[in-house]
Amino acid sequence: MCGIVGYIGERQARPILLNCLARLEYRGYDSCGIAVAGGGLQVHKDAVRVQALREQLPRRIEGKLGIGHTRWATHGAPSRANAHPHGDCTGRIAVVHNGVIHNFQQLRQQLVKEGHKFSSETDTEVIPHLIEKYFDGDLGEAVAKALNDIEGSYAVAVLMDGVPELIAARKESPLIIGVGDGENFIASDVPAVLDYTSRVIYLEDDDIAVITGEGVQVKRNGEAVARKPHQVTWSVEDAQKGGYEHFMLKEIHEQPRVIRDTIRAYLTADETMSDWGVFQKGDSGDVLMLACGTSYHAALVGKYILEGLFKIPVRAELASEFGYLGQSSARSQAIVITQSGETADALKAIKRLRSEGCPVIVITNVVGSSATRVADRVVYTMAGPEISVAATKSYTAQLMALYWMALPSAKIDLRRRDGLVMELRQLPGKVQRILDDEEKIAQHAAQIAKYNSVFFIGRGLNYPVALEGALKLKEISYIHAEGYAAGELKHGPFALLSGEAPVVALVTPDATYDAMLTNIKEVKARGSPVIALVEEGDDVVAEVADSVISVPKVDPLFSPVVNTVVLQLLAYYAARERGCPIDFPRNLAKSVTVE
Ligand code: AGP
Repeated sequence: MCGIVGYIGERQARPILLNCLARLEYRGYDSCGIAVAGGGLQVHKDAVRVQALREQLPRRIEGKLGIGHTRWATHGAPSRANAHPHGDCTGRIAVVHNGVIHNFQQLRQQLVKEGHKFSSETDTEVIPHLIEKYFDGDLGEAVAKALNDIEGSYAVAVLMDGVPELIAARKESPLIIGVGDGENFIASDVPAVLDYTSRVIYLEDDDIAVITGEGVQVKRNGEAVARKPHQVTWSVEDAQKGGYEHFMLKEIHEQPRVIRDTIRAYLTADETMSDWGVFQKGDSGDVLMLACGTSYHAALVGKYILEGLFKIPVRAELASEFGYLGQSSARSQAIVITQSGETADALKAIKRLRSEGCPVIVITNVVGSSATRVADRVVYTMAGPEISVAATKSYTAQLMALYWMALPSAKIDLRRRDGLVMELRQLPGKVQRILDDEEKIAQHAAQIAKYNSVFFIGRGLNYPVALEGALKLKEISYIHAEGYAAGELKHGPFALLSGEAPVVALVTPDATYDAMLTNIKEVKARGSPVIALVEEGDDVVAEVADSVISVPKVDPLFSPVVNTVVLQLLAYYAARERGCPIDFPRNLAKSVTVE
């Protein structure tokens, strides 16, 4: 989704802005631009990638104060006119904005009546005109007044030629300040500034910051507030490819480390999650899990884990649909899963739950993200920065958090529980074995890449894994893919089965095994080639499927981890075979900050 950057200091702003924008590319965008102030305001923008903008910029753009933006179109198509920064009538003000302004039509009509001229279809353009209207010598004040007129969400960075400061403000859209020595930065996300500083201020809703090279002053409702810089532990290398061809492949390969780090961190935590007593409420307790996309698939796996281990009712719902469902206040606990902590639908769901008196645990990967500020409790996953749009290691880290929330107090035989905890510790090695053998998975992927439609089927814990396998494949390879509960194929999708539609079947040696074998035979009888994921040593499935991929033996409870890693690699290599832009798939954004 849109990305904001800003710089003020002693260095030339142009190369810094372009570098910071390039670091935000992973969020997804369709156009970009920069504005640099220094003896006049210079604005350059277009519906192009950052590299193309860099190449088309005039040689002389000088100034030590600037802002930049990557835009993901909401109001108005991707075009030069709609790209940010946007300006006012005087040509002195530049604004970049993330979010949505609900009342922009009324504001625009009013401003037009007052003589302002607009040049884009965006909602953003009302902001510089409002600032122009209110400016009376104090830029911070004018921005505060302008934002006061706005209904909706925003993260904004503002500059005005001749005023040696940057203004940053946020409401329901992420914005951070990178604190340097004699220079400061603004960005939507930490990776953008890691080349320059690891000290970061997380702005909060309704904060307005006046930033100079020497300092940062934050105000809220006109009153000064203290916002301390945090030391970020991610390194630049964490946010770079480290020799891999794509971020996605690097992130898939980081999963053994992620699992290890997660277990270590949860083991050494002062307070264990089981101390929270979330799943010890017996029959009266019920749990609602909410999330979007891949995080929703983790929530669905969580539902199976928690219902299995605690025998309590657990519902998993799409956060984007939650607003249309009935009262939630009867629930005793909600868990919202969001890698970024910025997904608009997830944030809206948390606010509703809180307003209805339901305590919310947020599982997220991003320290200081919006979701962490509105949650009752936060469980951090230890995935490190995930750059590729396709979620991989963050999903595995979410599963680890769910296992760890459940296992210590699981209502199961003690010996079984200890055995499961032991197995959990062996998972990194088992995932590593899958990665060591990725060449074989790449060969299967090359076959899949030839088709235009693929089905993924599973049962029980592996039904959500089938959904995730299909999501991964469709989002990065653009092959149409459907995930199904294996028992549902005969209720409609059978009509689509043929030699042109292969089926990937997830077979686990648990209560679902026999039914999965039957489903594979049904699929074969209708002409679809079947690739089955089976536990190593299984030689029964190979007799009915066309080909098998062996996965290391794990307790079925952990089969979602190993099976998903295989499906991630399958999707990755299929997309690579088709020459797709794996890390930045078309039309998608890493962090979806609009409803
Ligand atoms: C999956 O690969 C996607 N990146 C997407 O489905 C993602 O999981 C979804 O947008 C939710 O994001 P979140 O976890 O940051 O809330």
